[in-house]
Amino acid sequence: MRVDLGNALDTVASPGIPRDALDRLDERVADAHERIETGRENHEHGYESLNLPQTTDADEIRTAVESFADAETVLTVGIGGSALGAATLAHGLESDVDAYFLDNVDPEHVSSLLDSISLSDTAVNVVSRSGTTAETLANFLAVRDAMESDGVDWTEQTFVTTGEEGNLRNLAERHDLPALDVPDGVPGRFSVLSTVGLACAAIQGHDIDAVLSGAQAEANRLSGSLFDSPAYAYGTACYALDERGAGINAMMPYAESLETFAEWYAQLWAESLGKDGLGQTPVRALGATDQHSQLQLYRAGPRDKMVTFVRPTEREDCAIPETDLPGLEYLGGQNLGTLLDAEFEATEASLAESSQPSVRLEIDRVDEYGLGELLYCLEASCVLAGELYNVETFIQPAVEWGKRAARGLLGGGDFDEADSVADKSTLV
Ligand code: PA5
Repeated sequence: MRVDLGNALDTVASPGIPRDALDRLDERVADAHERIETGRENHEHGYESLNLPQTTDADEIRTAVESFADAETVLTVGIGGSALGAATLAHGLESDVDAYFLDNVDPEHVSSLLDSISLSDTAVNVVSRSGTTAETLANFLAVRDAMESDGVDWTEQTFVTTGEEGNLRNLAERHDLPALDVPDGVPGRFSVLSTVGLACAAIQGHDIDAVLSGAQAEANRLSGSLFDSPAYAYGTACYALDERGAGINAMMPYAESLETFAEWYAQLWAESLGKDGLGQTPVRALGATDQHSQLQLYRAGPRDKMVTFVRPTEREDCAIPETDLPGLEYLGGQNLGTLLDAEFEATEASLAESSQPSVRLEIDRVDEYGLGELLYCLEASCVLAGELYNVETFIQPAVEWGKRAARGLLGGGDFDEADSVADKSTLV
């Protein structure tokens, strides 16, 4: 994969990064790389995620899900990092096996999804690292109830992916459900290359070895210099632009199949770096669709943003039929892919022309290998950025606060946080 920082430099953009600032930051990248490598070697919490291309056992995952080979649908019940990685792969890659995700606990959505799929043909993967997340457990109870109502033996069609302890582990043991382990030292948002992200992909028939190979290729390119490592180049550019005022980072892939990837990225960036008053605010966009909405702001709004483009350079194409309709001759005989490329180039140029910074990430194709490259590259970028910001990348105290408070409000745990929720609203 390739990273192009040309449109993030101060010769093009404002805010932009002076070349000598990049040279100075490269010394900090060398130190950060050393810290990251030490963390990986010692299997420290979080840093261990960057070892997953080597440590994930693809055969173990395939074996664990082989009894679901005939499933027509796979339903993942999980939230945040326990759902978005698997969803990114499922929505990025085509399969004859449909994949659905229950993350939110919106009752109308849950009911309508459960009514719309054939539960007797569905493999259910309940994913929670902690095994205690209220949304996931509540949704699972709803799924189990729906299966029982349809006369489906849920114990035959359910497996769990979880940590060593917790309610979900207890449930698996009580009902003798197949269980995959969430590896130690891997926070949810960094878990796509583990059992958490890959079990659903294996049921869908995707080549999970190729995902891991693509990721390993990017792991091999981590080095003590941002000029040799796409991941570190991107992480450094985001940090340097943020320092100069680009506190918002719009992730804008030019592939419909990468729309969920932008959501995964937003979680990774926000939950890892949003600490101590620091961090960039990630925004999700989609090319070319959002050229017709958000682009106005990106080009002409406040100078507090950067745009990250993700572009596959090869794809299946679709011809635009010849036409003699007056004014449309220029489209006839072209391909939709050619048009999308032109849209991308025009948008990138439009931002550069108005001195708004952007960075381009390129993969060859949206396939297993390309997604492995992209996901690993951005995880490593995020870890590097965390070192530069000097924040604790791998914890999420604000998220945990909310989880405890919600449980507390329902009478399911300590009430300290729940107490501070009460009676603060002013309804107008
Ligand atoms: O990245 C994270 O740590 C979070 O987004 C978690 O993945 C999310 O809160 C779900 O947690 P769990 O897997 O424990 O159910």
